[in-house]
Amino acid sequence: MITYNGNGGMNTLAVGINQRMSTLRQLPEEDVRLIKAYAEEHPEILDYKSLYVFHCLSEGMAKTYFLIGLEGKPIRYSTYEDFRLARRLMAAAMQEGVSELAVMADTLEMDLGSLIDGLLYRNYEFLPYKKRARSRTVASINILTHSLRPKEFNSMCYMYTSVYEGVYAARDLVNMPSNDLTPRKFTDMVSEMLKGDNIIIESLNKWALEKRRMGGIVAVGKGSMNPPQLLSIAYQGDPKSRDVLGIVGKGVTYDSGGLSLKSHANLEFMKDDMAGAAAVVGVIRALMLLKYPVNVLAVVPLVENIPSGMAYHVDDILTMYNGKTVEVKNTDAEGRLILADALSYAQEKGATRLIDLATLTGACVTALGTVRSGMIGNDQEWMNRFFKAATEVHEKIWQLPADEEYEKQLESDIADLKNVGGPEAGAITAGLFLKQFVHDGTPWIHLDIAGPAFNEKPDETGFRGATGVGIKSILHVLQGGV
Ligand code: BES
Ligand code: ZN
Ligand code: ZN
Repeated sequence: MITYNGNGGMNTLAVGINQRMSTLRQLPEEDVRLIKAYAEEHPEILDYKSLYVFHCLSEGMAKTYFLIGLEGKPIRYSTYEDFRLARRLMAAAMQEGVSELAVMADTLEMDLGSLIDGLLYRNYEFLPYKKRARSRTVASINILTHSLRPKEFNSMCYMYTSVYEGVYAARDLVNMPSNDLTPRKFTDMVSEMLKGDNIIIESLNKWALEKRRMGGIVAVGKGSMNPPQLLSIAYQGDPKSRDVLGIVGKGVTYDSGGLSLKSHANLEFMKDDMAGAAAVVGVIRALMLLKYPVNVLAVVPLVENIPSGMAYHVDDILTMYNGKTVEVKNTDAEGRLILADALSYAQEKGATRLIDLATLTGACVTALGTVRSGMIGNDQEWMNRFFKAATEVHEKIWQLPADEEYEKQLESDIADLKNVGGPEAGAITAGLFLKQFVHDGTPWIHLDIAGPAFNEKPDETGFRGATGVGIKSILHVLQGGV
């Protein structure tokens, strides 16, 4: 919960600190004296980006100050730095076991939105599978500021808490293990979560998928005892308009590679291969609260990619939902097969513009690491708009080239396409494979989130696991309409 100039406890307080100590004016005299004395001996705590946790006993009470150094902060800087520092601040507060955190926002010289963004980003943990867990999330954040009127502040807070409702829902899904979160369970949980007035949910089971000849989803799902599903969720916020943003998310609840089995090291964390699916669900969850006047269609193909006597083979030729044929050269390149059908389906159901999100290639992780998602598309203006929106909400992406020459790598001798393009430029050929399933004239973006979707190792603030990447960017682009 975020409150504004609330009268909660002031024993745990974040405050900026500079050489002149001008930011400490509103603090009790005794506290100021103690902080000054400490800073004189340890002037490094005044430096920009320093975050020091200062414990003191004053007025008979134990107090914790989160002192944020301001000296040397450049006049021109990116708000990403504010977002980053805010995440560190929340990490420190959680580490201290704080339940109420007061933040003297006006002393921090930060962009208020980026501050709230960073605090909420980090204030998350995943505990359902720990039997005797003690939660460390901060229950109440009290922002003290004079820079906004209460009404403005409340609408800003409502926006951020709604966005993070979606982000946390997505993280929960990605963090769930695949023995629990099967395609069916995903469908059931999400159908329950997204019940609402202007929302229409449809799910297609294995038989319905076979009947419709969704060759990609059916083939990849064949090896598993947990049958595939195709979930589609229509959010209708602007019934008068025909514009619909289709958001398509890769939902491989577990990717073992199939018969092209992954090595034991590469199997680890493959429960995260449905992070794209979780992200599009998170977008709809947030839209239910934000009520943006836009139409969005989320399409989620769900499969488990597992070898068995029923599994699809290398050298199989599949007929996809749009009629194109694909020669399977590696069953571990399964994401593009299920996304291809889902993209066709989204267009058939009326999407006039598309974004797909997928933990699609290890090649993208090799190219961009865990810092940025890779972007490919067929419409530079749409990509520019999305890039700008993503940057504004502190999600980092980078456009990859998509020259026609790369498409040659996907040529097959005996089918229309093959599902792998060889060892070179793997993130690009994967994206260009998907492009074959997008109608000419439909603006489309593909985001390869394989790196940023999941922190296998803790990030710079000690944050592990699913991140919910992609949700903030899509919601921000939707603020400007479809
Ligand atoms: N789900 C993986 C991609 C992945 C790798 C996601 C690492 C997250 C972390 C995807 O289905 C895959 O296995 N891709 C193959 C493609 C190859 C066979 C052409 C890969 O990247 O190795
Ligand atoms: Zn794979
Ligand atoms: Zn995969």
